[in-house]
Amino acid sequence: MIEMTKGIMAAKIRMAAGKKIVTLKEGKAEGAFEMKEFDAEKVKGKKAVYIDGIGTYEITEPEGCGRLYNKIAIVTGSAQGFGKGIAEVLHAQGAYVVIADLNYPLAESVAKELGERAIAVEVNAGDEASVAAMIEKTAVSFGGLDLFVNNAGIAKAGGLEEMEVGTFELVTKINYTAYFLGAKYSSAVMKAQHEVDPSYMMDIVQVNSKSGLSGSNKNFAYAGSKFGGIGLTESFALELVPYNIKVNSVCPGNYYDGPLWSDPERGLFVQYLNAGKVPGAKTVKDVYDFYVSKSPIKRGCNPPDVAKAIMYCVEQEFETGQAIPVTGGQIMLK
Ligand SMILES: NC(=O)c1ccc[n+]([C@@H]2O[C@H](COP(=O)([O-])OP(=O)(O)OC[C@H]3O[C@@H](n4cnc5c(N)ncnc54)[C@H](O)[C@@H]3O)[C@@H](O)[C@H]2O)c1
Repeated sequence: MIEMTKGIMAAKIRMAAGKKIVTLKEGKAEGAFEMKEFDAEKVKGKKAVYIDGIGTYEITEPEGCGRLYNKIAIVTGSAQGFGKGIAEVLHAQGAYVVIADLNYPLAESVAKELGERAIAVEVNAGDEASVAAMIEKTAVSFGGLDLFVNNAGIAKAGGLEEMEVGTFELVTKINYTAYFLGAKYSSAVMKAQHEVDPSYMMDIVQVNSKSGLSGSNKNFAYAGSKFGGIGLTESFALELVPYNIKVNSVCPGNYYDGPLWSDPERGLFVQYLNAGKVPGAKTVKDVYDFYVSKSPIKRGCNPPDVAKAIMYCVEQEFETGQAIPVTGGQIMLK
């Protein structure tokens, strides 16, 4: 049973209005059609709907164009790194994009750079109330949710001798538990949309990793959380298929130019050097050369590579529950 929130109501109105953009405003707007409770038939052809005690749902034509025209998307962890690059591509392809991140000032600057059709939302992806609020904010701002990209993630390398249980649990919370929370609350809005328009297809895409497909030496906290994510993807896909919600993972290779790897203090190059993951490596450059040489297409994975895989998931209507490598051939599926 889905609890009726302002956001869920907005999502239903949007579907009934023919997938327009629906924005909740305070008070009663002039000329708004007054409705006591949701009635799909009565929404058709209306420009604004007023519900006493809630406010006015303004219904407008979507702007832009592109492969994701009129899609409403959230990308968690999109203030920087892969998430930022993914959000930029989705936005350029016409999507309405929510830049959702723990780092709100940075998220705000990304949303500002994107301009129209982008908003920033502060979220802690590992906190249930915060995730619920992010989904609600998205739905009342744009009128629903079509694509949830679960991208926020952290990596803490370390072997069995040095890994602390607190660090292990933090990685598990942000990379694994957070995916469950994101799927739980995003699917609630999507199910409400399905109720009004059962033919409409929606997507949850988890940004996983090649470390979710193959073990990672002295990096088990991360690899374990990502392997677990694929189990969630397969299971969510089975559970959500009756609602026309597809669920897939994309599994990028290493983004060497991004902060996760290249941050001079906390980046993985430095962490791996200190953890002794690369035998004989004496400098960050040694670690870099070692990793680049592993991929048959000799370069790192970049955000547009990942965004293309996500768009494939959205456009492909006959696939769900998959984990798609984006690794330049480093990981090949059996
Ligand atoms: N960088 C790589 O080489 C690589 C490779 C494969 C997969 N991935 C995956 O891609 C995703 C993004 O990685 P990245 O390299 O861009 O990371 P990043 O560290 O550059 O960026 C992560 C973003 O997530 C945000 N974030 C962190 N914790 C959060 C939380 N609790 N709630 C909300 N936001 C939070 C950060 O503020 C940051 O903006 C992760 O899931 C990661 O596991 C990365």
